Amino acid sequence: MTAMATVRQRILITGASSGLGAEMARQLAARGRDLALCARRTDRLEELREEILAAHPRASVAVRALDVTDDDQVFEVFRAFRDDLGGLDRVVVNAGLGKGAPLGTGRHDVNRETAMVNFVGALAQTEAAMEVFRDQGHGHLVMVSSMSAMRGLPRTVTTYAATKAAVAHLVEGLRVELHGQPYAFTVLYPGYIVSEMNDANATGKPGLVSTEKGVRAMVEAMEKEKAEACVPPLPWAPLSVVMKHAPLPLLKRLV
Ligand SMILES: NC(=O)c1ccc[n+]([C@@H]2O[C@H](COP(=O)([O-])OP(=O)(O)OC[C@H]3O[C@@H](n4cnc5c(N)ncnc54)[C@H](OP(=O)(O)O)[C@@H]3O)[C@@H](O)[C@H]2O)c1
Repeated sequence: MTAMATVRQRILITGASSGLGAEMARQLAARGRDLALCARRTDRLEELREEILAAHPRASVAVRALDVTDDDQVFEVFRAFRDDLGGLDRVVVNAGLGKGAPLGTGRHDVNRETAMVNFVGALAQTEAAMEVFRDQGHGHLVMVSSMSAMRGLPRTVTTYAATKAAVAHLVEGLRVELHGQPYAFTVLYPGYIVSEMNDANATGKPGLVSTEKGVRAMVEAMEKEKAEACVPPLPWAPLSVVMKHAPLPLLKRLV
């Protein structure tokens, strides 16, 4: 936790139209936070806003359309939300895509799409968030990485895992640069959590937990402003050590 861990009242979440982003919005609204929610499917955002307002009539929920692969729109939307809410205390870079194909099998299109959303899109979001934070002199950046970032992974996950390692390094770079200054950085490494990306009937997904349970661990870690957290901690924190250090033949059997 940072020395100045205060309540982060005004929170922007990208990829809030489904899965982990939508559930983070529900759980943070229950804690009385003001929300700025974006994604491409604005009908889903409007429904979520209605749902949150029905449960918490005094909640403040702003919604805007955003495609994170449109650089200009990322900056415009983040600035507009900053103006809507009078500042941003936390930005959660969550929008992501799980598509992928083994490298060299003719599907560069899907791997590129994942790289553009998960890395280039996350870079634009980080730039836009840090611009706001540097202007106001404070802010908490939360990056949603993945347990797949712990090690290079095979087949359909190779590109996805690489993007998730890359976004964790973006945050690490900022953490070094801004050490001792009033900014906080959290990298979340979720294991398997039910969402559109990972539906409840998914087979062969060890440790799959409900959206509510997985996101509770994510919210707890961001509220404590942990530098990094495997979420939920069990089984993923111990497994992260295995993933990082397993010799190749063992890793190949595990993944
Ligand atoms: N669920 C898991 O087990 C798991 C594990 C590790 C990491 N994660 C990470 O958690 C994050 C959330 O994923 P999820 O599991 O909640 O999956 P999800 O239900 O599929 O949600 C993905 C979200 O990202 C948004 N998104 C996708 N492409 C976008 C684009 N071009 N521009 C703007 N928004 C875009 C989607 O909104 P629109 O389609 O409306 O734009 C949606 O709100 C992702 O970064 C994912 O990699 C998930």
